[in-house]
Amino acid sequence: MSIELKDTDIIWRNARLATMNPTISNIDGKHNYGILEHYDLIIRDEKILAILPMESVPVNRCKVIDAEQRLITPGLIDCHTHLVFGGNRASEWEQRLNGVSYTEISAKGGGINATVNATRQSSAQQLEITAQKRLNALMAEGVTTIEMKSGYGLDLENEAKQLEVVQILGRNNPVEISPTLLSAHAVPPEYKHNSDAYIDLVCNTILPTLWQKQLFESVDVFCESVGFSLEQTKRVFDAARKLNIPVKGHVEQLSNLGGTELVADYQGLSVDHIEYLDEKGVEAISQSGTVAVLLPGAFYFLQETQRPPINLLRQYHVPMAISTDFNPGTSPFTSLRMMMNMACVQFGLTPEEAWQGVTIHAARALGRADSHGQLAAGYMADFVVWDAKEPVDILYELGHNPLVYRVYRGVITHGFYE
Ligand code: NIG
Ligand code: FE
Repeated sequence: MSIELKDTDIIWRNARLATMNPTISNIDGKHNYGILEHYDLIIRDEKILAILPMESVPVNRCKVIDAEQRLITPGLIDCHTHLVFGGNRASEWEQRLNGVSYTEISAKGGGINATVNATRQSSAQQLEITAQKRLNALMAEGVTTIEMKSGYGLDLENEAKQLEVVQILGRNNPVEISPTLLSAHAVPPEYKHNSDAYIDLVCNTILPTLWQKQLFESVDVFCESVGFSLEQTKRVFDAARKLNIPVKGHVEQLSNLGGTELVADYQGLSVDHIEYLDEKGVEAISQSGTVAVLLPGAFYFLQETQRPPINLLRQYHVPMAISTDFNPGTSPFTSLRMMMNMACVQFGLTPEEAWQGVTIHAARALGRADSHGQLAAGYMADFVVWDAKEPVDILYELGHNPLVYRVYRGVITHGFYE
């Protein structure tokens, strides 16, 4: 294939490319991270134009960057976060370490509702300042696409405030944001004895009004005994379906209510947490093409012992994504690399599965499988150059940052290598 390059194109040369492209296999027929060596990664504007054998690329006046044999991977995708909220819950964590359970804390108006109070009392600017720091940490370790949920406002005004801050973060930062409406996250105090009336408010007012304002692109529900019932979840999904909005769910985290099958019925994007998922649920999502999102930070922080059914998910070929679930109550961790490590150690994923979990499968969980999460022609030019040779190195040694360059839409945004 011959290619004509423009002066403004950029060639990344002399890298080991972990493309994560599932069609590239090594000589044993194994996928092996879709590794390519002696290939040029050619960028035009915001996208990858082509990946071609080095000797076939005619270099004219365009810029060539020598990657000096380093590893290049797709930018990391964090497909489940609650990044914008007021206050923190460190003292609650201390209570939990003194023996009080998460469910008990929720029942006493703590838990999610404590963050709801703090979020309602915070100005948009205060919310932005704290979320920006978290986003900085995630971007510094290579995140280029991130999902952010509402769900700590729980009324029209405060859900709007949270999602407007999400929009501001998206405008001010070199990162793509996927905003999600999670108004059905908890029953707010003013609806304590009438959760159905709150679901009315979500379905009839919050969801349609904020959709009209283009403040989100998908709808999530916390389907759990401390959240919303299956019937209430269905009502929210029906309201979303009326407007053609994709759905996803926090399901089977603390018990099995059957939320996974419900998400599958609606051809949902993802089912998240899923520690208590059973074979019926796995079978349902294998049919609907829904991604299983593993959240090892919450599993660890809640000292959960029930592991998600990894072998069943493998058996049914369900794509598994991994995310930080960054939130103040159950996963206050701004490192997706740490989550990859935890998914291997705690859940038994292979390092390659962990990489797929923050690239191709995370892209699918955000409805972006055709444009994000791989190094391939036509995909977004979002990638990371690491001070490493092997993909496993990135999740093996934590505590220092091996990122050399972070490239977003073809442009170097972070360069930390010393
Ligand atoms: O994803 N499970 C429900 N929602 C969050 C926890 C939110 C919180 O405790 O503030 C989660 O773990
Ligand atoms: Fe969550």
